[in-house]
Amino acid sequence: MAVTSKVDEVRKEVDRLAGSVHSASELMEKIVRLLHGRMLKYNWVGFYMLENSTSSQPAALVLGPFQGAITPHTRIPLNQGICGAAAATGKTLVIDDVSADARYLPCSSETKSEIVVPIFVKNEVVGELDIDSHFPAAFDDEDRELVQHCAALVGKLLERSGA
Ligand code: SME
Repeated sequence: MAVTSKVDEVRKEVDRLAGSVHSASELMEKIVRLLHGRMLKYNWVGFYMLENSTSSQPAALVLGPFQGAITPHTRIPLNQGICGAAAATGKTLVIDDVSADARYLPCSSETKSEIVVPIFVKNEVVGELDIDSHFPAAFDDEDRELVQHCAALVGKLLERSGA
């Protein structure tokens, strides 16, 4: 009998969701609920979307749909935090021990590790999916692949809707 891992199951559910939603924001709402509800080590799951700079404000990441504790970081400049670093470089960041990373902006004192995956539309970063865990080194290669898959589906839907 084939053994299906939790990650495989959740990935299939995300694919089903992506085929049934009417908008990228609906998919984002459903992804945060699914990942937070099903993945035991995903204690805070949220999207940040990039707001471009204006004459009065520099570019910043603005908190979108999320599940978990209320965060003080509703707006993160690109030169701050793990979130800012992931958006500025366009690279997935996996931080096994947030206390050892000087860039880390604390959301909850219980957070031990974090993953941030950028979302792209036409090769440009438009946002990111951020997940915090109360467990150290909670995100292995399978988690990274799952979270990157979720971020890519949101990017595809945004691109299709002309974002
Ligand atoms: N820890 C993030 C800030 C966002 S909260 O975790 C929700 C960072 O260092 O950028």
